[in-house]
Amino acid sequence: MRRNMIKAVLITGLLAMASTANAEPPVSGELLAFQCAGCHGFNGHSVGPATPSLAGFPKEYFVDTMMAYKQGDRHATIMDRVAWGYTREQFEAMAEFFAAQPFIPARQEFDAELAASGAAIHDQHCNTCHSEGGTYPEPDTAQIAGQWAPYLRDSFEDFLVNDRPQPRGMQRRLNGLSAEDIEALVHYYASQQDPAAYVHAD
Ligand code: HEC
Ligand code: HEC
Repeated sequence: MRRNMIKAVLITGLLAMASTANAEPPVSGELLAFQCAGCHGFNGHSVGPATPSLAGFPKEYFVDTMMAYKQGDRHATIMDRVAWGYTREQFEAMAEFFAAQPFIPARQEFDAELAASGAAIHDQHCNTCHSEGGTYPEPDTAQIAGQWAPYLRDSFEDFLVNDRPQPRGMQRRLNGLSAEDIEALVHYYASQQDPAAYVHAD
């Protein structure tokens, strides 16, 4: 208890310093990332089902995504209001921090049969851009495997219903899938729970 209180006081103090330090570089990505921990978990390891893990995110995708939220180019429930208050330089500092954290897949239930049919759909339609079963952090998109199933369902809804922009090659493939196919994909991504599968040679 006492330790937690000390920690809380320390973090509050550090955040206050970060916001009054008037942008003299270097900007600490780690301090800035504390401000995201309430929803995205410490070090970007999300414990909440509607919130993605940010650990291990590729830097380019992270910065592009935050700029898209800031500029209103990506549908958001809350992230547009969060992103509004930061500069690109601060996103770049946070990107360095999150990219250096190991990705830890969410521990969650899944249906093994659905996961198996999802794997086949993924290999046929998605693996060219979301390689290694969606565990690989591509420069232009993060790991999709290992995220919380409710977050993945929300993401598909954003693309299919809320006009979240998507690359042409993906739109064509996603539009061709049934609701059952998409649910199978969600179970496949949720089934990939071995942290070692997210460690890649490069
Ligand atoms: C109040 C809760 C909340 C806070 C605080 C918050 N986020 Fe989010 N974030 C979400 C939710 C929920 C989503 C899922 C998409 C949506 O609903 O907009 C999300 C999505 C994201 C994504 C998109 C991930 C992807 O795979 O495309 C990024 C990147 C992100 N947040 C970064 C941050 C950063 C950086 C901070 C701190 C500066 C932060 N968030 C603070 C709730 C939050
Ligand atoms: C032509 C390449 C390409 C193909 C094919 C593709 N994707 Fe994507 N996907 C992307 C890119 C690039 C993004 C990042 C979009 C952005 O910047 O917001 C993305 C984003 C996503 C996201 C959101 C990730 C997040 O955390 O916000 C999901 C989920 C996803 N793709 C699933 C799929 C599925 C399922 C398939 C197969 C049916 C597929 N994609 C096929 C390139 C592709």
